[in-house]
Amino acid sequence: MSMMLVSRRHVAKSMVGIAEGTIRLFSSATTTACSGTGAAAAAAAKQSTRMGVPTWTKSGAVYWVQMDCGARSAGTVALGGKDDYEEEKKQHAADHGSKPSVDNGSGNKDEKGIASYWGVGPTKLTKEDGTEWKWTCFRPWETYKADVSIDLNKHHVPTTFLDKMAYWTVKSLRWPTDLFFQRRYGCRAMMLETVAAVPGMVGGMLLHCKSLRRFEHSGGWIKALLEEAENERMHLMTFMEVAKPKWYERALVVTVQGVFFNAYLLGYLLSPKFAHRMVGYLEEEAIHSYTEFLKELDKGNIENVPAPAIAIDYWQLPPNSTLRDVVTVVRADEAHHRDVNHFASDIHYHGRQLKESPAPIGYH
Ligand SMILES: [Fe+2]
Ligand SMILES: [Fe+2]
Repeated sequence: MSMMLVSRRHVAKSMVGIAEGTIRLFSSATTTACSGTGAAAAAAAKQSTRMGVPTWTKSGAVYWVQMDCGARSAGTVALGGKDDYEEEKKQHAADHGSKPSVDNGSGNKDEKGIASYWGVGPTKLTKEDGTEWKWTCFRPWETYKADVSIDLNKHHVPTTFLDKMAYWTVKSLRWPTDLFFQRRYGCRAMMLETVAAVPGMVGGMLLHCKSLRRFEHSGGWIKALLEEAENERMHLMTFMEVAKPKWYERALVVTVQGVFFNAYLLGYLLSPKFAHRMVGYLEEEAIHSYTEFLKELDKGNIENVPAPAIAIDYWQLPPNSTLRDVVTVVRADEAHHRDVNHFASDIHYHGRQLKESPAPIGYH
């Protein structure tokens, strides 16, 4: 059974997929062994306590995926009965010098037998330098080097009524934003990312539902927009490492999200042409904000602290990177979002649907 699964996965999956497939395979295979409930099954489970497979990333770096199968033993409690479980617990303690535990990636060692029973977790990744990959929200093969050579000055000149409306909507939002944040660019960036991560999710969700309703492909646009949302959320996860929101700022985010999510949803339903154009202009404003942020850093008004660890891993930055480097790559991301959204709006302007133009998936 396992060989059959291996070959099927090998054919169907990419290099990264192989690792995933192997994990799934291992889980499936062990489930079978454990579910036998006999001594042979228990022995098989014990023998397979630790396995690993090398994983290749897009950049060619090799990581090692490990799965601690001690959890699988715990998982058999539902299949093999309490006695088997107690026996395996003792054995595990003898093997490992402690009570059986599983690190599910969230740091909680007591959640044994939950993920393991279903065969879906946990994986341990190790970086090239041997240190543990500590992020559960993204994997090494999802990291990238930002294209900082992108033209930051591109601008879509609003000519039609709809364009002008999108443009002035964004401009009018900037005024209260400037007033509220003044020159606190760290805080401003963090707060704006809570908004910036909404449009991609809303647009992706609506296209997803449309794809289901109409029995048709999206041309990759669902994935592209959801990627944008995730990328924006990673900006937030990064900036919250350098700026902690106060209670009233959290309250503001809740309020703004409630309004903006619904307004954008309605806007996208009425006119995706307008919605994407507006996001294009929002991204132009984001580029401007990050340029101002960089100026303040260069003047010394904002301390150029070391880059957060999450940023170093996500953008594959050198270990000695600083906040300035982070802002630079985030600004490059915003320029990519600008292009994607103006492009999407242009497709609608040409009377076409998004699915007719292949989406820029993985465009960072
Ligand atoms: Fe962003
Ligand atoms: Fe953006």
